[in-house]
Amino acid sequence: MARSRCNGKLLCLCLLPCVMVSHLLVYIMVSVFVAVSYSPPVPQLPLHFIATGASANSGALASHPVRPFWNLRLEDGALWNRLQHIWDREHNPILRGNSTRSTSQSLDADQPQEMIKSHACEQDKAWASHLPDFNTLPNQMKDFVLSMHCRHYAILVDQPDLCAGQDSETPFLLMAIKSQIGNFENRQAIRETWGKSGPIQEGGGGRGWLVRTVFLLARQDTETGPHPDLNALLKLESSTHKDILLWDFKDSFFNLTLKDVLFWNWLSKHCPQVHFIFKGDDDVFVRTKALLDYLDQIRVEKTRGNKTKGLVDFVVGDVIANAWPNRQPNTKYYIPESFYKGTYPTYPGGGGVVYSGALAMRLQEVSRWVSLFPIDDVFLGMCLHRLGVPPTHHSGFLTFDLPEDVRDKPCAYHNVLLVHRRTPKEMLTLWKELQVPPHEC
Ligand SMILES: *[C@@H]1O[C@H](CO)[C@@H](O)[C@H](O)[C@H]1NC(C)=O
Ligand SMILES: *[C@@H]1O[C@H](CO)[C@@H](O)[C@H](O)[C@H]1NC(C)=O
Ligand SMILES: *[C@@H]1O[C@H](CO)[C@@H](O)[C@H](O)[C@H]1NC(C)=O
Repeated sequence: MARSRCNGKLLCLCLLPCVMVSHLLVYIMVSVFVAVSYSPPVPQLPLHFIATGASANSGALASHPVRPFWNLRLEDGALWNRLQHIWDREHNPILRGNSTRSTSQSLDADQPQEMIKSHACEQDKAWASHLPDFNTLPNQMKDFVLSMHCRHYAILVDQPDLCAGQDSETPFLLMAIKSQIGNFENRQAIRETWGKSGPIQEGGGGRGWLVRTVFLLARQDTETGPHPDLNALLKLESSTHKDILLWDFKDSFFNLTLKDVLFWNWLSKHCPQVHFIFKGDDDVFVRTKALLDYLDQIRVEKTRGNKTKGLVDFVVGDVIANAWPNRQPNTKYYIPESFYKGTYPTYPGGGGVVYSGALAMRLQEVSRWVSLFPIDDVFLGMCLHRLGVPPTHHSGFLTFDLPEDVRDKPCAYHNVLLVHRRTPKEMLTLWKELQVPPHEC
């Protein structure tokens, strides 16, 4: 009796590990079989797009990750998604370990420039073959696809001393405003009103902040018809105000993302210490003092005590979540399904957005690993998504304007930081009206 019970125990003791080991073996065999039979999709894309250091068929790429690290859904067919998939795989710090600089390292702007320079910046017809419906697409989409591999363009008018200039004080706020060569009037109205460059004093003569303004321009788009030659005027304007940055690419709607990318590169070289950046269009109106007040508050809050990280993830604007690409072929924002699939990441509307200088440096870094996207505010959202930084919504950013019946009442602007859109004349009137604080609001 006692013996057989002992035997049973012994049997159990011996058998149990065997059963477990055999299960483990079966599991390993199944996993190996799955791994071996799984062949990662090999996208057929031109090699020169891939960043230097590895090429798709040299075998130098890390194997396709079975589990995603950064939301790596490969959605077959859509060009942007496929390109981004390759980049994510190449620059995934877990897969690649030391061979890729991690995005948090090295704020050195020269290295990426070198990499990008090595690709010829010419339209490349080969790209057309990667969109099955290329020939039916609107021209702006075609143009974008043919040159989306290129993001290095020379700067034709530069302001290297904008931040270091006369007084070596670092600007508190840098206003970077997207404009077009022809919009002289908008720029002048902005200089005379909300975009005044220089020290801005608070109402009571208390604190003061240094503000700098710069306009982001590109070459006139001659494809939409002949243009009067405005270069001499621009030269005069630039030498008078010293606030123009002009790059050598076509100033078109789908090229606006280039202005962000090139501005971040410029910033990391010439103004890395700036506290905050406002980036907006030349047809918005900003209550600059209210904005400065708000930012000052943020700075005090975020850097109070020992929070050295305080401002590295500050970005605020009119935040748009869960937006879908526009699929109406005749609209300005049309993005075909063959180019991009999925929803857009949460992004701050492009009419006006404010972020910290520290975040701008991180954006400059991470944007190198994000494929260019034709809509600039969505591209910003994509970069923020890669950084894991959610933008903060502020109800004072009215990119869709105030209700029509209160637009001309100064009181209605009480809680507004930014409003879209105002003509140069309206800017001057509104600015004047808002100088006198209304007594009852
Ligand atoms: C990464 O590089 C550093 C410095 O070159 C080295 O000390 C470290 O051991 C490397 N880590 C890995 C995982 O290779
Ligand atoms: C952007 O600019 C480049 C360089 O000027 C040009 O080749 C390309 O067609 C432009 N893209 C769009 C979408 O206009
Ligand atoms: C801030 O942190 C540093 C180290 O992280 C520490 O040496 C210092 O005492 C801290 N200061 C305060 C005011 O807590």
